[in-house]
Amino acid sequence: MAEIDRFRSEDRRQVESLYRRVFGSDAADANRLRWDWQYRRNPNMPPDGPLIWLAREGTTVIGQYATMPVRVSIDGRDIDGSWGMDVMVAPERQRQGLGDMLFRTWDRHTGASLGLGLSESSYRLFQKLNWPDVGPVPCLVKPLSRRALRRPNWPVQLNRFVSYITLPWIRLVARTRPLEGEIRMIRHFDEGFTRLWERIATKFRFAVRRDAPYLNWKYIQPPHVRYSVAALVRDNEPAGYAVYRHVQEPRGRVTLLVDFLADPDDTSGFVTLLRWVDREARAADSDKIRTFATHEGFRRLLRRSGYFPVRSTMDFVARINAIEVPPDFYHSTAAWHVTLGDSDQDR
Ligand SMILES: CC(C)(COP(=O)(O)OP(=O)(O)OC[C@H]1O[C@@H](n2cnc3c(N)ncnc32)[C@H](O)[C@@H]1OP(=O)(O)O)[C@@H](O)C(=O)NCCC(=O)NCCS
Repeated sequence: MAEIDRFRSEDRRQVESLYRRVFGSDAADANRLRWDWQYRRNPNMPPDGPLIWLAREGTTVIGQYATMPVRVSIDGRDIDGSWGMDVMVAPERQRQGLGDMLFRTWDRHTGASLGLGLSESSYRLFQKLNWPDVGPVPCLVKPLSRRALRRPNWPVQLNRFVSYITLPWIRLVARTRPLEGEIRMIRHFDEGFTRLWERIATKFRFAVRRDAPYLNWKYIQPPHVRYSVAALVRDNEPAGYAVYRHVQEPRGRVTLLVDFLADPDDTSGFVTLLRWVDREARAADSDKIRTFATHEGFRRLLRRSGYFPVRSTMDFVARINAIEVPPDFYHSTAAWHVTLGDSDQDR
C-alpha cells in the first residue's frame, strides 16, 4: 500500500531517476537545471521545504506531485495557493489510483489548487475529480511579417500566394505606432512594483500576487531562460511592465509576450507597453508575437493593437479552498489575470 508524504532532501536522486523514466532524458536534464531555483528559491516556499508530495512504497518513490506555491489574490483578498506542476507516477504503476491520491493530498493542503497547460492524462484526472474547468487561457497572435501566416501542411505555392495577398494587410497591422509614455528596460523589480500590485489587485477577480519578490524570482533569476523586462514609468513610479523573449520555432521566429501588468483601465499605458514590445520584436526579426491572456480588458486592447485570437492549447483548472467563492465565480475568467508567465508554462 502506497503512502503519500512530503519530499525530503535525501529523496532527490530517486525523484530524478523517476523523472527520467516518465518524461525522458532531455526533460530530466532541464528539470535538474531548474530545480533549485524552481523549488528552493521560490519566495513563497514554506519554512518546512518545497511543496512536493511523494508516493512511496517502502523506501521506493513511485510518484510525485511537485507544486509551485504562490499568493493568490481573489477580489483583492490574498490566500495561499499552488500551481500543480510536475506530476508523475511510475509507468508500471499508472492507472491504479496513485494519481488520484496525490491530487487529493495536494488539494487538501492548499488554499487554491491550480493547474495550467495540462497533459491529456492529468487533464482527464482533473475532470474525473470534478475540478472546475475554467480554461483554456485564450491565445492571441500579432503577425509582423509575411512569414507569420505560413502553415507547414500547406504546399509551398499556397504559402507563397497567401503571403503575397496578405502582405499589405500585415504591413498595416504591423506598422510602427508612437509610444505615449516612458519605457525603461530593467534588470530588477523594485518595491514600486509591489505598490503597483497593491494599487490594482482589486481589479482582478483572480490573479497570482505579482509583487517585487515574486517578479524578481520568476523573471530575473531563472537559470534556464533569459527575459527582457520593460517597465512603464510615470512620475518615477512603475505603472506597468511587460516580460518577453524571442524564440526560434520550426515555423519562424516568435516573440513571446510572457507576462504583463498594468491597470486594465489604463488604456494608454498598456498600449504603450504593447507598442514597445512591437518594436523589440521587429528589431529581433520576429515574424509574430504570441501571448496568452484571460482578462477581457487586456484582450480588447490586444485586439485593437493588431493581435488575433487563435486556438489555445493551454488548459486551465482552478479550485479555491481557503475561502467561500460565489457560485458564479468559475463561470467566466474575463476578469481573471492569467498569462503564459503563470505556473511553469514558459520553460
Ligand atoms: C497523470 C498521472 C500522474 C496520473 O496518475 P495515475 O496514477 O495514472 O492516475 P489514477 O490511476 O489515479 O487516475 C486515473 C485517471 O486519470 C486519467 N488518466 C490517467 N492516465 C491516463 C491516460 N494515459 N489517458 C487518459 N486518461 C488518463 C483517467 O481519467 C483515469 O481514470 P480511469 O482509469 O478511470 O480512466 C500519470 O498518468 C502520469 O504520470 N502520466 C505521465 C506524466 C504526465 O503526463 N504528467 C502530467 C504533466 S501535466
